[in-house]
Amino acid sequence: MLSASDNELLTKVGPGTIMGDLMRQFWIPGIQSSELAGPDSDPVRIRLLGEDLIAFRDTNGDVGIIDNFCPHRRASMFFGRNEECGLRCVYHGWKFDVNGDCVDMPSEPAESNFKDKVKITAYAAKERGGVVWVYMGPRSKLPPLPELEANMLPEGEWAVSSIMRTCNFVQALEGDIDTSHLGFLHLGSVDPAGAVPGSYDYYTVNIRSPRYKVIDTDYGTTYAAYREAEPDTYYWRFAHFLMPFWAMIPTGVLGVQVLARAWVPIDDTHTMFWNMVVPTTRSNGGQGGAGAPRGGVNIDGKKGATDYLPNGTGWFDRWNLAQNAENDYKIDRKAQYDNENYTGIDGIYLQDQVVTESMGAISERTKEHLGTSDTMVIKTRQRLMTAAKELQEGMAPAAVDQPELYAIRSGGVILPKETDWLEGTEELRKAFVKHPGLTANK
Ligand code: FES
Ligand SMILES: [Fe+2]
Repeated sequence: MLSASDNELLTKVGPGTIMGDLMRQFWIPGIQSSELAGPDSDPVRIRLLGEDLIAFRDTNGDVGIIDNFCPHRRASMFFGRNEECGLRCVYHGWKFDVNGDCVDMPSEPAESNFKDKVKITAYAAKERGGVVWVYMGPRSKLPPLPELEANMLPEGEWAVSSIMRTCNFVQALEGDIDTSHLGFLHLGSVDPAGAVPGSYDYYTVNIRSPRYKVIDTDYGTTYAAYREAEPDTYYWRFAHFLMPFWAMIPTGVLGVQVLARAWVPIDDTHTMFWNMVVPTTRSNGGQGGAGAPRGGVNIDGKKGATDYLPNGTGWFDRWNLAQNAENDYKIDRKAQYDNENYTGIDGIYLQDQVVTESMGAISERTKEHLGTSDTMVIKTRQRLMTAAKELQEGMAPAAVDQPELYAIRSGGVILPKETDWLEGTEELRKAFVKHPGLTANK
């Protein structure tokens, strides 16, 4: 449970808010590179942290992220002409480049220097691994991009996808760090007798109330949930929260799985989910697999198809799913009654989407009742709120200037009972390391 004022502090990200200031310290995934198809392609509306922005790719292929409103008389730049290294407002022809400089002002006399005095707000943009990263913060010397393995490998190895979620980013993020729902929401219908002995799923459905270790780290928080595997071993599931909205989930095999998931606030009530993943490092079966227990949404690009609606041009018209609140996510009550599927909702991603969106646009945390299994959620909220308050006192979070803190991995591992959970996994938790003895399936 949180006080109403803490819930406000935690969830509001617009300009001038305490959490919004924290978000603006970091590079933010803004739009997929492929959405800006080529030089002088159509401008795209994107909202980030409650700000309406226009993304465009200029004649040279450089990306511009500028304010929606023309600084002249505030027509929308979305309708602009993308031509000759700039976006030209169609109202009076003022033209701006990717840096926000006004490079042409044909409505003023040729001798006027007014154009040198006018700028449009433009945020720095960098492209890497299929992602246009945006920096909306105050620094003139830009911080480094986070060293996220899934976003730094050669083309062809990684996959990137996005899905719109219609709720605040905190409850969406909390779905990724709340491991205790796995045995219910996702695997509640799996009969232990039917699971493959020795598989991670087998251990998960045999003991549905694991114990937890949770720690604060320089990058955010880490938990490991553990339960007995065999009489002399534990099955450990490691997952991380990384400032300010990243999660690495514990599915798959620790030391193999490469992924990073971002819950980017579009505004206070919309979140863009970003999945950056190396598909070959994810297991093929069970909950660690690419998709759902039976068919459904697959966000790893491996098998099945994610059921997207076509993208449109509105602020919220990108990467929406066909199963949504308006159609009750196409819940299959018969599958639920027959216990063929615990939820009747098709696919792991969608199951998470249903429960987090069903909390309302911004969850009323004043009315919650948190148990021992919510320790990671509690610690992560505190971590975010503390970092936000410390920033107000002039202390930027360590992770902004230490990109190497992001070079880590998550996943599951079987350890002898006497092995220390952190010492015993130090190498496995490092990114960019090969472990030839390990495979993606367990
Ligand atoms: S409103 Fe954009 S040029 Fe006048
Ligand atoms: Fe989940």
